Amino acid sequence: MNILDAYTPDTTFQSFQNIYLVFELMDQRDLRHFHFHNWNKICHHQNGAPLIADIMLQLFSAIAYLHQPKLRLIHRDIKPDNIFIKQAGEGDCIVKLGDLGHARQIPPKEGQPMTMNITTCQYRAPEVMKNELYSMPIDIWSAGCVLAEILVPPNLQKPLDNALFNSDDPKIVSQMHCQLTAQTITTKFTNNRLPQWKNVEKWGEYFRYILENTLKLDPSERLKAAKIIELNPFEMLDMEKYKFQPVTDVYEEKAENFRVDWRMKIYDKLKDFNQKRMEEIQRRQNENNLQN
Ligand SMILES: Nc1ncnc2c1ncn2[C@@H]1O[C@H](COP(=O)(O)OP(=O)(O)OP(=O)(O)O)[C@@H](O)[C@H]1O
Ligand SMILES: [Mg+2]
Repeated sequence: MNILDAYTPDTTFQSFQNIYLVFELMDQRDLRHFHFHNWNKICHHQNGAPLIADIMLQLFSAIAYLHQPKLRLIHRDIKPDNIFIKQAGEGDCIVKLGDLGHARQIPPKEGQPMTMNITTCQYRAPEVMKNELYSMPIDIWSAGCVLAEILVPPNLQKPLDNALFNSDDPKIVSQMHCQLTAQTITTKFTNNRLPQWKNVEKWGEYFRYILENTLKLDPSERLKAAKIIELNPFEMLDMEKYKFQPVTDVYEEKAENFRVDWRMKIYDKLKDFNQKRMEEIQRRQNENNLQN
């Protein structure tokens, strides 16, 4: 999501601790809210399946952006509440992955452990549950859970009850992970359990393929986000929409100065935002003065 403004009330670099971020408004809020209020659109005979595919491909495009070799960022909290939606014209929506509060870059040396206390239980990958080393495939697992959830009707009373792994208890969720096989995915999402879309056979087959290949217990077997986009399954969707400009500039972190460096960079950015805000206020005042 675009950051429109950023502000700190702290006046010196030494005391700098707090940041307020202003994001663009996503008028359909988040995917949980969207799913809940637009189930009729998702069920629509003609447009429902392409809508889900579009939302998922935009999500995978955002994940591919974070996972690209020059960034190597893991989001670590992908869930419907952190996927934001904005209406863009008739029946078209813009999907953005937000809330990067748990995101981090993969450590440069392979095998370095990262914190295990991440991802909301329902969307947490098996390797995290088992306290094993983890990497980018945890985001793919969470995205698979998101797809499974939006293929079925929302639960008005208890929204998380309709998650594929619908428990707050990591032990129960772990058991559910072990019970999940390609066969259970096929049974849970047979064509007659999906909304009755036009070409439900074709769409059902595609969505089951994505579920089976994102919800793999072994992280190395999970599809990569970029690969899912490359598959180009829907000739009817404009694949240009899911392409992005790869990052060219890499931030080389130096371990000893890492925190100071970042604080300084962020503090400098905040000064830029401040400057822009002041200029805008001045411009508006001048405009008002001219009008009066
Ligand atoms: N820019 C935005 N436009 C529309 N809705 C937003 C926006 N930012 C946040 N929201 C709403 O607020 C909710 C919480 O936002 P966000 O995930 O960024 O904050 P959070 O503090 O991390 O909350 P949580 O801990 O629940 O994840 C979102 O799920 C969404 O419903
Ligand atoms: Mg959030």
